[in-house]
Amino acid sequence: MRQERLRRLVREVKVDLDDLIVPIFVDERISKPVEIPSMPGYYRVPVEGVVKEVENCLELGLKSFILFGIPSYKDEIGSSAFDRNGVIQKALRRIRSEFSDVVLITDVCLCEYTTHGHCGIVKDGKILNDETLPILGEIAVSHAECGADIVAPSGMMDGMVKAIRTALDDEGYTDVAIMSYSAKYASNFYGPFRDAAESGYKFGDRKSYQMDFHNGDEALREVELDLKEGADIVMVKPALAYLDVVRRVKDRFGVPTCAYNVSGEYAMVKASTTFLDERAIVYEILTCIKRAGADLIVTYHAKDFARWFG
Ligand code: PBG
Repeated sequence: MRQERLRRLVREVKVDLDDLIVPIFVDERISKPVEIPSMPGYYRVPVEGVVKEVENCLELGLKSFILFGIPSYKDEIGSSAFDRNGVIQKALRRIRSEFSDVVLITDVCLCEYTTHGHCGIVKDGKILNDETLPILGEIAVSHAECGADIVAPSGMMDGMVKAIRTALDDEGYTDVAIMSYSAKYASNFYGPFRDAAESGYKFGDRKSYQMDFHNGDEALREVELDLKEGADIVMVKPALAYLDVVRRVKDRFGVPTCAYNVSGEYAMVKASTTFLDERAIVYEILTCIKRAGADLIVTYHAKDFARWFG
């Protein structure tokens, strides 16, 4: 195997553009794209700009998108998340009316839409898990109505997959799939996302619902529960410091497994380009996430990867 052409012949994994999901931040309050300070080269786009953004990605060969919304208003229960005229609902309708065969995934969570910034509703400083579930169902249905193919609950509420599956089925959306953020850790790598989506919390932390990064077995229990509740795709998040978890999930369950290469991981690469070769690093990172067992990857590097290697 001393020659490159032979090594290419026996490679075990290779990143395909079909494996990549492009995150899009849609901001209802802006009229021009705005760069996210902690994510150099990444932008929030206005509702009027989403079609153009999707078109640019399609030209690069990228066909799957996950949408995050920054709404024009927030309240205690996150009503703007299921408003039929909310930011994600408007963006979905625009994209779906232009492109019938792109894959549209939506993040189903409250944190971008609540005044307190938590992923569930709050009373006396506590997150109310069960009271949050019907709201998540309502958000998922509103996304399905506007053309989502996959809804992705990211709030780590117990029972969220079952609540969403039931709500979707009751409304006739039996074909809408669920990608659950099953093993989502309370990570320090989400900082730039919280800037991007203005979803930082006003008190406490997320450790009562997101996972403790000291644990690996717990991830398997979380994934098992979500699969029993009807998840079609499970996710491990973040990706890079958690590749052992990706591998264990894939080996144990053999189901479609997504890894989320998060905002802080992107920011680290961007901050290191004076010392490292960005292209080579991005290629290596995404390839190694696949090698660890991920079938699909949400990554802010998707467009660069497609431009450089597509
Ligand atoms: C919403 C959500 C978060 C991310 C995706 N969905 C933030 C969080 O849980 O604080 C983080 C993504 C990233 O860092 O790229 N719950």
